Amino acid sequence: MPSLPPAPMDWRVLLVDDEEGIRKVMRITLEDAGYQVETAADGAGGLSRCESFAPQILITDIRMPVMDGLELLAAVKQRQPEIEVIVMTAFGEMDLAIRALQLDASDFITKPLHDEAFFLALQRARDRFRARQQVQDYTTLLEAGWARTARELIDTFAFQRNLIDGSLDGILGCDRDDAVVIFNRSLERMLGYTRAQAVGQMTLAGLFHPGEDARFRRALAAEKWGGRGRLALFETALMAKDGQSIPVQASAAILPQPGAMGGLVCFFRDLREVRRLEQEVADQARILHQDKMMSLGRLAASVVHEINNPLAGILNYTRLMLRILKRGPLEATRQADFSRYLALVESETDRCARIVASLLAFSRKSPPAMTELALHDLLNRCALMSRHKLELQKIQLELVIADALPPVRGDANQLQQCIINLIFNAIDAMPEGGSLRLEADRSPCGREVTITVTDTGAGIPTADLPHIFEPFFTTKAEGYGVGLGLSTVFGIMQRHGGTVTAENVAGNGAAFTLHLPLAPAGTSPPER
Ligand SMILES: Nc1ncnc2c1ncn2[C@@H]1O[C@H](COP(=O)(O)OP(=O)(O)OP(=O)(O)O)[C@@H](O)[C@H]1O
Ligand SMILES: [Mg+2]
Repeated sequence: MPSLPPAPMDWRVLLVDDEEGIRKVMRITLEDAGYQVETAADGAGGLSRCESFAPQILITDIRMPVMDGLELLAAVKQRQPEIEVIVMTAFGEMDLAIRALQLDASDFITKPLHDEAFFLALQRARDRFRARQQVQDYTTLLEAGWARTARELIDTFAFQRNLIDGSLDGILGCDRDDAVVIFNRSLERMLGYTRAQAVGQMTLAGLFHPGEDARFRRALAAEKWGGRGRLALFETALMAKDGQSIPVQASAAILPQPGAMGGLVCFFRDLREVRRLEQEVADQARILHQDKMMSLGRLAASVVHEINNPLAGILNYTRLMLRILKRGPLEATRQADFSRYLALVESETDRCARIVASLLAFSRKSPPAMTELALHDLLNRCALMSRHKLELQKIQLELVIADALPPVRGDANQLQQCIINLIFNAIDAMPEGGSLRLEADRSPCGREVTITVTDTGAGIPTADLPHIFEPFFTTKAEGYGVGLGLSTVFGIMQRHGGTVTAENVAGNGAAFTLHLPLAPAGTSPPER
């Protein structure tokens, strides 16, 4: 026998033949060629060896007793279709060979064996086995690839769906025929339709407030809203399922599709909240305006009232003096009366002037003359100016000025006026005497200094607290208070970038605090 081409040891061949001589010869031939070989003497034995040995190639005789080669072939192909089967026929049994090929045998060889035909059949069986294996590997690979692609597609789809559903804006997609194909959660919330009710069931036109669809289409076709086929920040209205009109800001784009008009994607921003806030702001502005007009009215009425009395007095005395003068030259006895009248005119005019000056201080728009001030000097000056009044009313003054207070920037006269107003109020609050504490310190936050005037009077009734800074609010008897002291303080503090606060002291008395921002470092030296 000529030598067979070398075959790797991992090729296993099962040989089934009822003739022992043939089995022996063929085993030697095959093993010589490098195959692992097992044999069986009949079909049933061959079938069970196929399972245990798992050959890649099965060579079987056709004519065998009990289970013939064709039966074995059919059974093997059913259980282990990957096994390549070569059948052996006797010369002239062509019909059996054809039957074997129909049963998916790889080849047939005729007995007595012709070596070359045998090697060729083996080679072809190996090629077929390998080819089949490759196809299978490739299929497995394709399947794995397909599964991965499918997974990626599912992920991408899920991501896009989340993106669309997560949007606060309503997102709507429709096809070329205007039918809704995308309807996100925000739209569900905004309009009250479910996705199932909208997708494939409704058209874009059906979602608009009547008449708005045509306006939207015109704007989409026009140049001015972001170009033809595009729409940006266009205000329109949709209609909810319950018939409610929903104001929205729409942005839209026609999706490009070659040769034809494509579908449309629209983004709708719900404007109801914006409208509500706009309304609120408008209402507030209206209320503020009304409030301002009322305050102005009250202010005018108070001014009239406050100035009317002194003016009436001045007018009366002036008329009286004119009448006297008309009667003839002024008699010596009348001169004293005249002096008294004129003094009254002077004091009443002075009162008017003070009211006007205080009002001006309250409402002055021009900025104060700011310089850097040492609080120590300022407070001492105020204490000195009130000393006489304090002594008269038997009030103890306690002056507490923190060490190393930083300077503040301010108008010295105006700040002095503030402190004096607070001191005079405190004096008025203690007709029976008491003690007054004038204190200056740095605030806990360190960005401002505080000047506090605390008294031991009756305190401020809670109902009065919201009004004490209003011009002309006074609880004092006519001729004792005009009600301009604290409003003047308020106005001055505002112009200094500071504030004034009032509170009642536990026990008794009231405390008023001026909060003044610190002078920025490196400004002019303190004024004395
Ligand atoms: N230290 C205080 N204790 C109790 N009540 C006070 C004190 N300071 C102010 N008030 C209340 O606030 C009101 C308004 O004070 P404000 O200084 O503006 O006006 P006024 O003192 O009444 O009059 P004016 O200061 O114009 O002479 C006072 O009438 C008083 O009722
Ligand atoms: Mg006062």
